[in-house]
Amino acid sequence: MHHILIVDDDHETCRFMAELLEQPGRAFEIAYDPDTALALARSRVFDLVISDINLNASISGLDVLRVFKQANPGGAVVLISGFGTLETAIDAVRAGAFDYISKPFNIGEVKAIVERALRQPSAASSAPPSAPRQPPVPRLIGRTAAMFDVYKQIAHAADSVAPVLIIGESGTGKELVARAIHFHGPRAGRPFVPINCGAITETLLESEMFGHTRGSFTGAVADAKGIFEQAHGGTVLLDEIGETSPALQVKLLRVLEEGEVRPVGASRPSKVDVRIVAATNVNLERGVAEQRFRQDLYYRLSVIVIHVPPLRERRTDIPLLVDQFLDNACGRLGRRVTVTPAAMDLLARHTWLGNVRELENAVERLVLFSRGAVVDVADLPPVMSETPTAPASQPLFADLPPLEEIERRYLVHVLDAVRGNRTRAAEVMGIDRRTLYRMAERFGIDLKDEEKT
Ligand SMILES: Nc1ncnc2c1ncn2[C@@H]1O[C@H](COP(=O)(O)OP(=O)(O)OP(=O)(O)O)[C@@H](O)[C@H]1O
Ligand SMILES: [Mg+2]
Repeated sequence: MHHILIVDDDHETCRFMAELLEQPGRAFEIAYDPDTALALARSRVFDLVISDINLNASISGLDVLRVFKQANPGGAVVLISGFGTLETAIDAVRAGAFDYISKPFNIGEVKAIVERALRQPSAASSAPPSAPRQPPVPRLIGRTAAMFDVYKQIAHAADSVAPVLIIGESGTGKELVARAIHFHGPRAGRPFVPINCGAITETLLESEMFGHTRGSFTGAVADAKGIFEQAHGGTVLLDEIGETSPALQVKLLRVLEEGEVRPVGASRPSKVDVRIVAATNVNLERGVAEQRFRQDLYYRLSVIVIHVPPLRERRTDIPLLVDQFLDNACGRLGRRVTVTPAAMDLLARHTWLGNVRELENAVERLVLFSRGAVVDVADLPPVMSETPTAPASQPLFADLPPLEEIERRYLVHVLDAVRGNRTRAAEVMGIDRRTLYRMAERFGIDLKDEEKT
């Protein structure tokens, strides 16, 4: 018999939860307030506690979790929260929660989580309570289920030492996710050093990564430390990992396998202690299949994989992001600008191919160029009001099939507006040039050969 304790100050939710999970072999207790819950948890053994985080009392679900875990280290706790933030996900995982569900919850997901929790041998994680940490943590905005999933994965990754591979389209927030993993983990007090593997030439990149000795090549006037040594004790973000050459891939593999780097020109390798997080906006599995990317390196890097969803799959986060970016831009530019609901609606339904970065740039431009204090539909770039959109009453995902067509038309429109200038086009769309090329290729659009300036 499995004993399950449900804790929520909302009677409806408790009843609903018990009905949902009801089946032979399960017995339920319900507590509407934390005191009852704690008294029950101390006096009896439960296999599982499902508790709301916000209990409308001075004691929270996290406190219930801690007390329960002390009295009953083998039992599992699943926390429920009205909205997911990265911080609560982290707290929950740290305090040893088995999982964490956001309201409104998905019935199938709740059932599956509870089954897993009950099947879990009593080895339920008993992570030690965390020490207070300094919080220079970047703020990830978003309350959609898709982002919530990302928060949970960040929380788990932060508590692990394994390499992390972050996959997502350009501008989705991969670097921000990498920073969050670093700054919520035990290495937070040490450096976080990002390096873009696609931005510089191979020789330069190698010396940048691994350092060099004086005289090892023209211009190497002194010994220089590479980023792995600079980041000692901290985290290195290998951005655009898919762009690295085969030769460099071998060297990175050595870092991962042996914890060693060999500076250019040095006769001996030196030990480094870094956590490795890599990011990519290209499909590395395809790279492996096409033998452009080493399979062994891919396996090493992808112990933990976090997918950051494109903005068009979490459109309900757009107003939150717009508000934040408006605040930032207004603060910086000394302006006061707001967006009307109609304009916000169009912003939320636009296809942001450049994802959050494009949205951020667009909002900044709106503030910069707005004449008045209010941005309305007419102030938006024409492409937004022209874009065919799903009727508001339909689920936003309904517009997925014609999405490609919208993307294609948008690209054509932008290229036309900037008279084929690729650099400008990429800028306007908030994507990098490589992404622009890939898009053009995908849609069979010829980018003009020469660029007009
Ligand atoms: N969830 C978010 N909340 C707030 N800001 C975000 C979020 N996601 C992205 N941003 C902002 O959008 C911009 C792009 O994010 P970031 O650089 O992390 O993306 P990226 O995936 O690394 O992009 P690229 O592939 O082009 O390197 C940054 O200014 C970042 O602060
Ligand atoms: Mg990036």
